[in-house]
Amino acid sequence: MGAEPRGWVVKRGPDGELQAAVGPLPNSPSSQFVCIDVEAAGFNYKDALACDAHPGVVRKLPLVPGIDVAGRLRSSFGKYAAGTPVVATGNGLGETMSGGFATEVWAPPAAIIKRPPNLSAIAAMAMGTAGLSALLAVERLQAVIDWNYQARLQGNRNLPWLITGASGGVGMLAVAATALAGFQVIACTRKKKSLSDTLLSLGASTVQSPEEALPSDKKPLSSARYLGVIDTVGGELLANILRVVAAGGAVASIGNAGGVALPTTVYPFILRGITLAGIDAAGLPSREKRQDLWAKLGVLWPLMNSVFPVRHIGLREIGEWAVEMRSGRIGGRAVVIPEKEVRDEYAHD
Ligand SMILES: NC(=O)c1ccc[n+]([C@@H]2O[C@H](COP(=O)([O-])OP(=O)(O)OC[C@H]3O[C@@H](n4cnc5c(N)ncnc54)[C@H](OP(=O)(O)O)[C@@H]3O)[C@@H](O)[C@H]2O)c1
Repeated sequence: MGAEPRGWVVKRGPDGELQAAVGPLPNSPSSQFVCIDVEAAGFNYKDALACDAHPGVVRKLPLVPGIDVAGRLRSSFGKYAAGTPVVATGNGLGETMSGGFATEVWAPPAAIIKRPPNLSAIAAMAMGTAGLSALLAVERLQAVIDWNYQARLQGNRNLPWLITGASGGVGMLAVAATALAGFQVIACTRKKKSLSDTLLSLGASTVQSPEEALPSDKKPLSSARYLGVIDTVGGELLANILRVVAAGGAVASIGNAGGVALPTTVYPFILRGITLAGIDAAGLPSREKRQDLWAKLGVLWPLMNSVFPVRHIGLREIGEWAVEMRSGRIGGRAVVIPEKEVRDEYAHD
């Protein structure tokens, strides 16, 4: 690389206004951290919020966003030699310390895992934390759904699983992971027209708009439709979903792309015994757990690689992509390739 390390730096100007542009990295690295030469960084909804200095994500400015990164170790670390391909996710990257939207990142050792050999840096970052959260949600639902009750009841056990925000990164990965686990998937998206074919190819049996997927009545409980739900949207949509989860069923709450308030009642919990399970892929899973999940992502990738829409962007395109993502207009994932920026720039010289 040779040149001074650079990244997408978010900071406040002299009058407190938000500024974001490609520039030198703002913070000097901690000697406790490990340097990764970045090959690719995943673009998560959290990163789109960090690009806007959202106080729920960003703990300090200036900051380089990017909670997921794939690259190569600059020096040896533990039993890994210099040059080993690694991934680093969560553990404060892109939130409390500068993250992956840069040519180099200094990551805490706990965040770093050797990259599965069948995943390129771009493939790994096409999944990243979105993939980890989708797998965690499938596992968690399988663990908390009351299968004994389903077996006694007979009727509900074949009800489908619903995935909301299905056009997004987590949504598409959740569709593929749920279908791979053997469950019937209804993909719920506001972009049914443009993305139905993709979602069906990823494993959905049906694609529905939110209006089709949920009843229009306003009763605290409505007819049971789903045994499991992976929700990336939150807000009113999640509250509506809780009304139609079958007895003994469960919902994994992953995201808040549609809102943070949850205007619900206790009836789904006390009259149907449903479970609302939270997922936090960035902070909770141990390094060993993430190793296990990455191996599973290595299995999932070849099944979805040819249909999963992944756009490659350079550092300079980050601001525009963040705006699109926050507005919910995009589909699939974007992967930031810092070298693309460097290459493009030399091409202009
Ligand atoms: N808990 C965790 O560990 C974890 C991990 C990763 C991500 N997340 C969260 O999961 C959510 C999805 O992340 P992502 O990376 O998949 O984001 P994304 O690619 O931007 O997808 C978000 C999707 O949400 C849907 N949506 C519905 N209402 C929306 C609204 N008002 N504004 C914007 N989008 C809306 C859209 O899908 P349709 O148009 O298809 O409805 C959109 O594509 C985010 O809230 C993110 O922070 C959580």
